[in-house]
Amino acid sequence: MTTEQPFGIDFGGTGIKGAPVDLATGDFAAERERVKTPEKSTPDAIAEIFVELLEKFPDCRGAVGVTVPGVVKHGVVHSAANIDKSWVGADADRLFTEATGREVHVVNDADAAGLAEVRYGAARGRSGLVIVTTLGTGIGSALVHDGVLVPNSELGHLEIDGHDAESRAANSARTREDLSWKHWAKRLTTYYRTLEKLFSPELFVVGGGVSKASEEFLPLLELDTEIIPARLRNKAGVVGAALYASEGGG
Ligand code: BGC
Repeated sequence: MTTEQPFGIDFGGTGIKGAPVDLATGDFAAERERVKTPEKSTPDAIAEIFVELLEKFPDCRGAVGVTVPGVVKHGVVHSAANIDKSWVGADADRLFTEATGREVHVVNDADAAGLAEVRYGAARGRSGLVIVTTLGTGIGSALVHDGVLVPNSELGHLEIDGHDAESRAANSARTREDLSWKHWAKRLTTYYRTLEKLFSPELFVVGGGVSKASEEFLPLLELDTEIIPARLRNKAGVVGAALYASEGGG
């Protein structure tokens, strides 16, 4: 049976994951597939992988959403902090649409996670300004106000005490510098306090792989704003990308 369910692809530094998504539940509609990200992950190399990935789901004919860890405006990628620099300037919507023969919409990875957490996860039903951050190789951010996304906030690159914030407070900084949870929590407090001052949000949601261990560090943060772990965990990118594509992209 063919379905018009949207398909989400989460393009990450180590793996590329994809699955059709059931928008009623925010869950995968079929078992997810995962392939290793190639060493040289240029847009052209990635397009080939997307074609193979989609061929594994011949019955799914809906729109395709793809996360990218960079600024995306009208389908064109404008930054590439932690990916191959050849992404900058690439018209990814067009490239992937031509390569796959499907309607493809590219979205910033944190924005996708933010959409998914607000619609189906930790921030479901919350009004006002929710800031979803992902702590990984970099720091991703999504600003969602009353369910509406303001894309490309890029708050991981705020300059704090003379440093690019993600270089000090991302999970990669914790592992690279072998920081204790306590030490990292201090840096996170500085980071989230800066966000509090600038945005006065209702809620912070913390995603990224390390959110699995949130009880190790979230209770150590000293903030005025509620801060909770993401709920969709490693599904957020796929689900958010599919949701984004189902709404026709940006
Ligand atoms: C990039 C963002 C991305 C974040 C998380 C940052 O370095 O600039 O676009 O959302 O990393 O991957």
